[in-house]
Amino acid sequence: MLNISGLCSSYGEAQVLHGVSLDVKAGEVVALLGRNGMGKTSLVRTVMGLGSPQKTSGEILMNGVSLEGLAPYKVSQQKIGYVPQGRRLFPSLSVLEHLSVLDKGSKAENSAWSIQQVFEAFPRLKERIHHKGNQLSGGERQMLAIGRSLMMGPSVLLMDEPTEGLDPVMVGYVENILKKLKESGLGILLVEQNLYSALAVADRVLIMETGALVWSGLPSELMNNEETLHKYLGVH
Ligand SMILES: Nc1ncnc2c1ncn2[C@@H]1O[C@H](COP(=O)(O)OP(=O)(O)OP(=O)(O)O)[C@@H](O)[C@H]1O
Ligand SMILES: [Mg+2]
Repeated sequence: MLNISGLCSSYGEAQVLHGVSLDVKAGEVVALLGRNGMGKTSLVRTVMGLGSPQKTSGEILMNGVSLEGLAPYKVSQQKIGYVPQGRRLFPSLSVLEHLSVLDKGSKAENSAWSIQQVFEAFPRLKERIHHKGNQLSGGERQMLAIGRSLMMGPSVLLMDEPTEGLDPVMVGYVENILKKLKESGLGILLVEQNLYSALAVADRVLIMETGALVWSGLPSELMNNEETLHKYLGVH
């Protein structure tokens, strides 16, 4: 489904990604781990075509179609959803307003969620329907960010640290959502700092170090690999 090969990307003169290759298939969660500043967000931003950083070489294919030169809205039309780090929302828009801008009503494709489906999956959001972006808790903001991305009908979801700043109960809730999305056939590239959260939901794990992938394997392999945990993730 999503195939990235030899991807290099730069902020101006400064190269940030050095030949990254990875695939995400339908119904699989691929966790991308790595310490702060290693290039995880830069990778998802490059795939989305956000312009900064800028791809300099390599190839990104979605179901065989190249994303070369596509603007972000064109990338999302290729069924690639994006939940940004820090879950960008509008502070003065309500929950309903955030979702209404995306509701295509009867014109929606089958895969695109309706507002009703978002509220069924996240009942908490329905209770907060008229609360504004800046009145929501971290967990509620994350639900809204995920709900919004699903309304675009993605086949692959790029999620940048969805559990960042959440309390343990909310982390568990988000993990359950990811498992359900995976069961529904969605492919997920899950950027995480939270090792245990990634291990709980991932089918495969990749580790990034200064813009390159340096380790890949199964969650069970990583859990038993003290040297790798220590070297790349600072786990003691
Ligand atoms: N707008 C920018 N301009 C120039 N350099 C940047 C910019 N944003 C990030 N960088 C640099 O690119 C490198 C990778 O940053 P990136 O945000 O991709 O890391 P990350 O792995 O997502 O880190 P974190 O876990 O903290 O979110 C870092 O060295 C960072 O300083
Ligand atoms: Mg980041």
